[in-house]
Amino acid sequence: MNAPTSESTSGLGFEVDRDHVGWLTFDRPDSSVNTLTPLLMQELDALLSQLESRIANGQIFALVVRSGKEGSFIAGADVEAIAALSSAADARAASAEGQRIFRRIERLRVPTIAAVDGACMGGGTELILHCNYRVASDRTSTSIGLPEVRLGILPGFGGTVKLPPLVGMQNALEIILSGKPVRPSRARQIGLVDEVVPAARFRKAVSEFAAGVIGNRVERAAPTLGLGQRLLEGTGPGRRIMFGAARKRASTEVGAFYPAPLKAIDVLSDAVGMKADEAYALEAAALGELAVTPESRNLVRVFRLSQAARRALPPDVTRHGRPVRTMGVIGAGVMGGAIAELAAAHDIPVVLKDIDQDALDSGLRHAGDLLRKAAAARVFSEEEASLKFALITGTLEYDDFEGADVVVEAVVERMAVKQQVLREAEASADRAVLATNTSALSVDEMANGVERPGSVLGLHFFNPVHKMPLVEVVAGPRTAPEALATGFGLVLALGKTPVLVADRPGFLVNRLLASYLNEAGFLLQEGVAVEAIDGALESFGMPMGPLRLLDEIGFDVARHASREMTAAFGERMRPSGVLDRMIEDARLGKKNGLGFHRYQDGRDRGADPTVQGLLSRDGAAVSGEATASLSADEIRRRCLYIMVNEASYALEEEVVEGPDPVDLAMVMGTGFPPFRGGLLRWADSEGIQKIHDALSEYAGTLGNRFAPAPLLAGMAEQNRTFTDLN
Ligand code: NAI
Repeated sequence: MNAPTSESTSGLGFEVDRDHVGWLTFDRPDSSVNTLTPLLMQELDALLSQLESRIANGQIFALVVRSGKEGSFIAGADVEAIAALSSAADARAASAEGQRIFRRIERLRVPTIAAVDGACMGGGTELILHCNYRVASDRTSTSIGLPEVRLGILPGFGGTVKLPPLVGMQNALEIILSGKPVRPSRARQIGLVDEVVPAARFRKAVSEFAAGVIGNRVERAAPTLGLGQRLLEGTGPGRRIMFGAARKRASTEVGAFYPAPLKAIDVLSDAVGMKADEAYALEAAALGELAVTPESRNLVRVFRLSQAARRALPPDVTRHGRPVRTMGVIGAGVMGGAIAELAAAHDIPVVLKDIDQDALDSGLRHAGDLLRKAAAARVFSEEEASLKFALITGTLEYDDFEGADVVVEAVVERMAVKQQVLREAEASADRAVLATNTSALSVDEMANGVERPGSVLGLHFFNPVHKMPLVEVVAGPRTAPEALATGFGLVLALGKTPVLVADRPGFLVNRLLASYLNEAGFLLQEGVAVEAIDGALESFGMPMGPLRLLDEIGFDVARHASREMTAAFGERMRPSGVLDRMIEDARLGKKNGLGFHRYQDGRDRGADPTVQGLLSRDGAAVSGEATASLSADEIRRRCLYIMVNEASYALEEEVVEGPDPVDLAMVMGTGFPPFRGGLLRWADSEGIQKIHDALSEYAGTLGNRFAPAPLLAGMAEQNRTFTDLN
């Protein structure tokens, strides 16, 4: 594989203990996690040659494969190497090479035991599948997964060959197609690991296990298949039903954009009954095909952008950061309760304050519910959920903030209230970094009145907090490096992806989203049907259409934000009349069951047929008819091109550093389809000239809001792309 690599020293250690057990330790010296770089794979290959001769000489009775990184096993193949694959042949060869090396482990003439303490993903999982036994620790971070489909590929180091015989085909399909990691208890249940042992005495327990293996006292775990599963997996017709059902699930409208799951199903079903060599070759060929698809390229790109985002601060700023040991949150509403839960879930003690006891109780309930849901989803155990909940202290007093490292305010979106709570918080938490979760207000203005304006920054979480991976980190002109680095570090500690944005109205995501949602309103007003608008964007790959999204946000909240945008950017953000009209009719969106869709008990009952009549009845609609028919392409162009144009303005104003963070933020903050690589990568593939010309035409027919931004016009003239700007 012709991949670039900066690794120079050995990431492998080997020792033999008194009991003749060989301990092979992965511990890359240049990285906090082990990834299987091409160089590390070469080193493994060389070490296996040495091992084979020592085994032949009778020096080693069993081999344990482990990690030297506490709480982290092997994170997978090296994504840089995947990105560097230049052709299908290249990718196929890389896959075959990985398979060859792992199969050498399988052929060693002593029992092999994988000792998994911490996350074991992708290539790491394929490595342990080539061992005879697997022991996992009960640590919270221990999990085993094959997330390759999320990068648009499939396991290529033998995962599709080795997993089904171990756990059964249905479980293998679930693990490979979902990309979701499996926790130790479940892994034990399905035969993926042979034993789960306490993390606290992991090495000792693994030694005992190895001794048991050497003494022939260990029985290999076998999957416990029920009768139904045996019929499905063990017979031709059963397998046809099973693979057919999997194909159906993977072939939804959006699923059609992701070629990897369907390809993985083909590989798994074609390999049934094949000789091992043929099955490995089939896997390598499929990996070769997938790795060069545009979808995979885009998914890999987004993954790399999210990795790069973690290192976005220069080292001379990062070094000012302080670890966050305790936190305060002001405002126990929708956002505050969820932010408190997030902190507790990551083991940071947090004080949650409100002015109203009922609001506080409801915020605490919300946090408790989220923790319980996480336990139900087996993110952690119920006992851990209770311990984490105990880390949240509810209060009506500021005194409890004493000693907090960071205080996040999430009170109502009003400047005067926010300024006041920051002042009050500062009086009790005199060394805390003061963060605001404001959606659109000026962070710098909010710092007026506090004694240490340098301690103020924006940490803009997205709703729902537990699901949305993005946090916009807003540095105002006075934000000090210590506040910036501490806030940024906190976002990472909370498992979120930070994107640095300037202190401009709407920051980045809400500003771009405002133009998109507003355009959906104009379309509706022209008489285009709700389903047509949402359907056009959903078939593009958005997780939900713009009108469904407005239902989720709530019309009052959306109108408030829209007014802020109009005040800041004038004519091009002039709102359609749709939200006003809906609110006049006492409709607020999903929260009161009445949106563009109807909701019953929180469940979507479909588009509301009365909406068009409502808009046209009093002349709010331009055409006055619900029959305006625009093609899905036309709807997409209007909603998406206007967002690309707004991104161009934001780039001119240096809201973010170049197009890459725009792409990352839109994927992480709005669910913009990752297989398209982000808004601006998609714009490049669509064609800058084409977008520019369409915008100019719309500006003539529909209004000045479409007038191309100078940056975009310049790019069209010079035949440049957003990629060129990075
Ligand atoms: P909310 O209305 O659900 O909660 C606000 C809470 O603050 C209430 O419990 C209220 O009692 C409390 N509060 C009001 N004044 C207070 C004071 N002086 N001291 C202590 N507590 C006080 O509001 P929500 O939706 O949670 O929004 C909070 C902030 O987060 C706003 O700035 C909003 O713009 C921002 N935000 C909201 C998002 C959303 O989707 N709801 C998304 C991202 C940011």
